[in-house]
Amino acid sequence: MSLVHDLAAGALRSLDPEDAHGLTIRALQAGLGPRPRGPGDPILAIRFAGLDLPNCVGLAAGFDKNAQVYGPMLAAGFGFVECGTVTPLPQAGNPRPRLFRLTEDRAVINRMGFNNEGLEAFAGRLARRQGGVVGANIGANKDSEDRVGDYVTGLRRLWGLASYFTINISSPNTPGLRALQTKDALEELLGRLAEARDALPPEGKVPMFLKVAPDLEPAEVEAICDVVAAAELDAVIVSNTTISRPPLNSAQASEAGGLSGAPLMDLSTRTLRLFHQAADGRFPLAGAGGVSSGADAYAKIRAGACVVQLYSALVFSGPGLVGRIKTDLAARLRADGFSSTAEAVATA
Ligand code: FNR
Repeated sequence: MSLVHDLAAGALRSLDPEDAHGLTIRALQAGLGPRPRGPGDPILAIRFAGLDLPNCVGLAAGFDKNAQVYGPMLAAGFGFVECGTVTPLPQAGNPRPRLFRLTEDRAVINRMGFNNEGLEAFAGRLARRQGGVVGANIGANKDSEDRVGDYVTGLRRLWGLASYFTINISSPNTPGLRALQTKDALEELLGRLAEARDALPPEGKVPMFLKVAPDLEPAEVEAICDVVAAAELDAVIVSNTTISRPPLNSAQASEAGGLSGAPLMDLSTRTLRLFHQAADGRFPLAGAGGVSSGADAYAKIRAGACVVQLYSALVFSGPGLVGRIKTDLAARLRADGFSSTAEAVATA
């Protein structure tokens, strides 16, 4: 079954990347996704920031922006799925083309610009969730006059519907958004979110994560960690796409936008290590950026991540990939004498 899907993924790669993504979403909605898998190898189960995950391999934000296919993606074997980024109002995003497949580099460049159907559509779909860990990644509208207010609006509207929230301040495609990573701006944002969270019905309370860029200096990482700990956020996701350009071979390497996939692995893992040192045990970390194999997932875990997330590798490999990553990761953990994923965190 998964071979058939991986062949279909090959056919999709001959289409424009955004058309291919749209077709994939429709196929998944129509029930043409991979056959549901069991819970998976118990060595990969982990408790992360208060969430009990059947396995530590998650789907990163951006694949299911409108919360349309989290069910099939959970069934495909992901331990958790992060939907979004969703903004309060629907928005079209940047003009096409805005998604580029860098096949020779196993990479993607995107400048989508938070195209999404808005909070109402997202909330309606999330309300139909039947089990599984599904997070809501929230952001601000491009033309908003109160960006911090947009995050608060997202938190309020999705309260009680999402398994966790991710505050996304690291997309490079909404001008000025990344400035929210500076100390004063972050203090204000997280302060207002903490206030909003405390005023909402406590039974809806779920973990809240911050998603950061990989392009941060050590001093910036330290400042972010101090603000995150003071605001009592539950975890940090390291990282979003990079605005830097490591050496690339593909013709589209100079397109503007955020780079993801294989060339992001080293940079995002280095930044993950900085966060691990600076967090100093105050909160746990999720690692994203360039994961395309069990070895990559294992490297993130050994660098300090409790869980990993991926997106770009799916563009090249199809949904059978998640099963292969899990099998290989479990074998690597056992080969090194670990009896759980948690034991291997930050051991290299
Ligand atoms: C993304 N990513 C992303 N992240 C986010 O927080 N909100 C979003 O809306 C999006 N949108 C998005 C679209 C596309 C086309 C891509 C490729 C990526 C970033 C994604 O979640 C992840 O952090 C990075 O892509 C790094 O992981 P991979 O792709 O290298 O596994």
